[in-house]
Amino acid sequence: MPETSSPAPLRVALLGCGVVGTEVARGILANPIDLEARVGTRVELTGIAVRSLDTERVTDDGFVIPHDLLTTDAEALVDGADVVVEVMGGIEPARTLIVRALGAGAAVVTANKALLAERGPELFEAADAAGVDLLYEAAVAGAIPIVRPIRESLAGDHVRRVLGIVNGTTNYVLDKMATEGLDLDQAVKEAQALGYAEADPTADVDGFDAAAKAAILASLAFHTRVALKDVAREGIRGVSAADVAWARRTGHVIKLLAVAEVIGPVDDGEISVRVHPALVPDSHPLAAVRGAFNAVFVEADGAGPLMFYGQGAGGRPTASAVLGDVVSVARRRLTGGKGLRESKDQAFPVLPSQAAVTRYQVRLAVADRPGVLAQVAGVLADHGVSIDTVRQAPSDEKAETAHLIITTHAAREASLAATVDAVAGLEAVREIISVLRVEGS
Ligand code: NDP
Ligand code: HSE
Repeated sequence: MPETSSPAPLRVALLGCGVVGTEVARGILANPIDLEARVGTRVELTGIAVRSLDTERVTDDGFVIPHDLLTTDAEALVDGADVVVEVMGGIEPARTLIVRALGAGAAVVTANKALLAERGPELFEAADAAGVDLLYEAAVAGAIPIVRPIRESLAGDHVRRVLGIVNGTTNYVLDKMATEGLDLDQAVKEAQALGYAEADPTADVDGFDAAAKAAILASLAFHTRVALKDVAREGIRGVSAADVAWARRTGHVIKLLAVAEVIGPVDDGEISVRVHPALVPDSHPLAAVRGAFNAVFVEADGAGPLMFYGQGAGGRPTASAVLGDVVSVARRRLTGGKGLRESKDQAFPVLPSQAAVTRYQVRLAVADRPGVLAQVAGVLADHGVSIDTVRQAPSDEKAETAHLIITTHAAREASLAATVDAVAGLEAVREIISVLRVEGS
């Protein structure tokens, strides 16, 4: 029998040992035999870059990360690695370290959606030039396999639309408002107490985190470079307890959605990418996504509707996706060959937010007298906005005010904005209480 030499161990450098990094380290250190079997050679964690060497690194269930693996010299760690796992977050020094790793021929796995949404093209080009993998399954919706299914499983199909609940914190907040009648501030405080929301909840509440994920999903789904600046973004700060209660009365729930869709022909259209709160009908699968869970609903020509559901954050769930990518890049290093490159050939134009087409629900308070409903309907007709349903809530007789809930057919955002301005200018209209988009119907 000829002697066969086993492949050299695969050297993995980990950048970051926080919520996610600690669990990635555990995943490599605690299961060496399993990992070796999946990869085909031993996987060696060569070191972990951190800022402080004084902090003890231990997982929630007590797995202690050996102190001698920690280093503050991230550059030296990167230079000796076959695979670099970046879970430090932020733009710098993560970007420089990833470019350095790719330039030196190392494969990179990252969970850093903010970096990908802002500087993705530069990183993908560096990976292309070096002929190495850059994988990022954990960057969108944590544990949920969504990047690989869109990138690989649906590569032969045409994706028309992606609707995602991709921020667990805001889903938790909106769910609490719906189920317990809390107002936004109370629900955010609860989310902070549970560790979902940070002390400064801006990234989640104002939709920045979801917008970064929307940019990544749209880039993948439509083979087009979509950056964070291309995503129209509106967070949940404007959602009131009354909006949530009214949503319920009209058979909806309010969700912060990441929406990416093709407008026009699927091979020659334009795309709209946006993040905003939206009314989702109770019957839609996304309406059932509760608490801090995430879900992504994909509509493709051939596959039809698909739904991906699971934990979108947290150390262990996110590390699961990171480790899957580590195994994937490690296998390819052993077997050779190029991995999937960035797919950007479709290059759809990205529409401005004003050109987005969707349905709306407008709640308004009007004078309760004959002819007012006809006046409001007339303004919508004049602007070419078609009414689907009108509901009038019981009037406040003392104030002689009626409460109207008008749901429109699909209309351009710009037409709707002009319509709402014109309606607000009617003498009989006392207040435009809210304007919410309706998605998923
Ligand atoms: P943490 O803040 O918990 O951890 C960051 C780690 O990186 C820390 O160990 C920190 O070191 C280290 N670090 C930061 N800056 C530097 C630096 N300049 N040099 C060396 N080390 C540095 O972040 P998370 O684990 O929560 O998130 C990591 C990444 O994963 C982010 O990109 C995030 O968006 C993404 N992600 C996170 C999810 C989650 O649920 N937490 C879910 C999905 C993605 P030290 O500890 O010494 O300060
Ligand atoms: N803050 C994010 C969320 C973490 O709430 O979903 C995962 O990206």
